[in-house]
Amino acid sequence: MQWKTLLPLSLALSARATHKNSTAQDMLRFACSQLVVERLDPIVQPGVNGSAHLHQIVGGNSFNISMPTTDDPMALSTCTSCSYSEDLSNYWTAVLYFRARNGTFKRVSQVANGGLVQRGGITVYYITPYDGVSNVTSFLPGFRMLVGSPFNRNEAAVPYQVCHRCFGSIPVDPANPYGGRPCLGDDDTAGLPAIPCPEGIRTTITFPTCWDGTSLDSADHKSHIVYPTNGTFETNGPCPSTHPMRTPQVMYEVMWGTQEFNDASLWPVDGSQPFVYSMGDPTGFGSHADYLFGWKGDALQRALDARCNIMYPEDCPLAVQSDDTAMACTQPAVVHEPVDGWLAALPGNNPVSA
Ligand SMILES: *[C@@H]1O[C@H](CO)[C@@H](O)[C@H](O)[C@H]1NC(C)=O
Ligand SMILES: *[C@@H]1O[C@H](CO)[C@@H](O)[C@H](O)[C@H]1NC(C)=O
Ligand SMILES: *[C@@H]1O[C@H](CO)[C@@H](O)[C@H](O)[C@H]1NC(C)=O
Ligand SMILES: *[C@@H]1O[C@H](CO)[C@@H](O)[C@H](O)[C@H]1NC(C)=O
Ligand SMILES: *[C@@H]1O[C@H](CO)[C@@H](O)[C@H](O)[C@H]1NC(C)=O
Ligand SMILES: *[C@@H]1O[C@H](CO)[C@@H](O)[C@H](O)[C@H]1NC(C)=O
Repeated sequence: MQWKTLLPLSLALSARATHKNSTAQDMLRFACSQLVVERLDPIVQPGVNGSAHLHQIVGGNSFNISMPTTDDPMALSTCTSCSYSEDLSNYWTAVLYFRARNGTFKRVSQVANGGLVQRGGITVYYITPYDGVSNVTSFLPGFRMLVGSPFNRNEAAVPYQVCHRCFGSIPVDPANPYGGRPCLGDDDTAGLPAIPCPEGIRTTITFPTCWDGTSLDSADHKSHIVYPTNGTFETNGPCPSTHPMRTPQVMYEVMWGTQEFNDASLWPVDGSQPFVYSMGDPTGFGSHADYLFGWKGDALQRALDARCNIMYPEDCPLAVQSDDTAMACTQPAVVHEPVDGWLAALPGNNPVSA
């Protein structure tokens, strides 16, 4: 299991054997442990004590019910649950539940990604251009963005490189032992996998990469950052003139320990799959994620310019804290309600609706 889940690309080990001539691994990849799991959403529902659905949140401990763009996470946070101590950003996604035949729900555990040590949480990536030369620009303090929609139930409307991987469902290809790029594998689907996944499920969520360069936010939290006009980030597709600034490609991976629910006798009698996202989505097409920038000073730009590479962490000019220190950064929930154990309803009473 361990290495199979490690890399989004397949060249890593061959690159290690030689010198740094593979740009395929030019990216930050790091663990962020669970900060808190609760119904808050300071981007979409600021000030609302009990947002529409449950989120799992990682990063700086200044996460709060409201986080105006004028707030300074770098000054307000005293710790971060992420490996890079200068990263006080917040990252959050929906939460996955198992729905039993009797209609009760249990939260699916989140496990560490290959090669990482963490307690719950997610893996965060900042990817630099694949050509190995083009530069990308860091976000500004106060910047935030949203990708995906909790209301979406339509496969055609799932954003670029948002998907689910069903680990252990197909034989490992020796030529491509890590399964290849996210969302392009034979074991990737836009929605939640229809079958029990022997080694769990991974949610991948990738943000757009063409920014207008000035807006910290927009009314829908999306319009200020869009996709290349043609091609993709990976093919160096050009950004539109309205959004000329190329940013790193921010990507999250969430590793769900769904195996504990793989017993066929627990699955719905009608042959459907039993997992639902916290907004009541049994399709997975509503997978979405939020990003709130909070890197100290020019730390992120420094790392991007240095083209930090997974295989050469010693060349990356960022301070790394110990796994234990990162895992110790937590926050008490502001919204008091059960989110674990067998629940009669999803937090916020969201009905399951396809
Ligand atoms: C790196 O360069 C060496 C020598 O030119 C070559 O043998 C190797 O295949 C290259 N590795 C990658 C990952 O491109
Ligand atoms: C959250 O915001 C409130 C009100 O501004 C403030 O009193 C509190 O200290 C903040 N909590 C954290 C963890 O920053
Ligand atoms: C519902 O089903 C789950 C899984 O089979 C079981 O663990 C739980 O105790 C059941 N709850 C009730 C109230 O029957
Ligand atoms: C990218 O940034 C680096 C570091 O500032 C600089 O050395 C390099 O020339 C830049 N590359 C391009 C293509 O502008
Ligand atoms: C963008 O479109 C133009 C014109 O169709 C084409 O020549 C170019 O190769 C495309 N670029 C990418 C990155 O796909
Ligand atoms: C939020 O609601 C909880 C009840 O779930 C309450 O205990 C708490 O004081 C409220 N916090 C704020 C900041 O309004």
